[in-house]
Amino acid sequence: MSEHIVWHPTAMTKTDRQNLNGHKSFVLWFTGLSGSGKSTLANEVDRQLFSMGVRSYVLDGDNIRHGLNKGLGFSKEDRIENIRRIGEVSRLFVDSGLVVLTAFISPFREDRNRVRQLFEPGEFIEVFANCPLEVCEKRDVKGLYKKARRGEIRDFTGIDSPYEAPLDPELIIDTSAASVEDCAKRVIRYLQNNGLIGLDRQIP
Ligand code: ADX
Repeated sequence: MSEHIVWHPTAMTKTDRQNLNGHKSFVLWFTGLSGSGKSTLANEVDRQLFSMGVRSYVLDGDNIRHGLNKGLGFSKEDRIENIRRIGEVSRLFVDSGLVVLTAFISPFREDRNRVRQLFEPGEFIEVFANCPLEVCEKRDVKGLYKKARRGEIRDFTGIDSPYEAPLDPELIIDTSAASVEDCAKRVIRYLQNNGLIGLDRQIP
């Protein structure tokens, strides 16, 4: 960064924006293997939050790679950069008073922890979409595991590229053990129990 760039203070603060919305802003950071249900779960939580009048938005790995992160591949360096950018974008969302739900494999513990450091305590909620590799591979919604096994895709997470499960996430959701609605309700309950959204907000 150039030494000639100076931070410009904003007229309105994060707290002002949270007050306008009537709820806190924070990030729900979903992590897990491809096919573990991160996007499905994030979207269901988003749908439930929307119906409760909470202003939220999903950032999804596959979608973001169509635009903002179009130029990035799956080397270690590119994945680090992918997560760094999404961490920064998430910080902007949280500063704007919104709830952001991110669905990226984010396979490296160090990268997720670096993102956590960008936030105030309690603002970064790591949700581990826990699903055995065998189940993800059996689902193989996009047919990518088959291709990876055949050697047609290199550096595929869980096959020939590592996934480092979180050691101490705020939430572990076993996505293969319950329905998506019930998994999402567990996330919502966590938010209510921790004062992130009001108990008066009900899923209609
Ligand atoms: S991350 O590792 O950098 O966090 P991200 O979540 O953005 O990954 O993208 C993962 C998605 O890209 C997968 O769900 C899958 O559809 C697709 N994909 C394509 N190639 C790979 C690969 N080599 N490893 C993992 N996912 C891949």
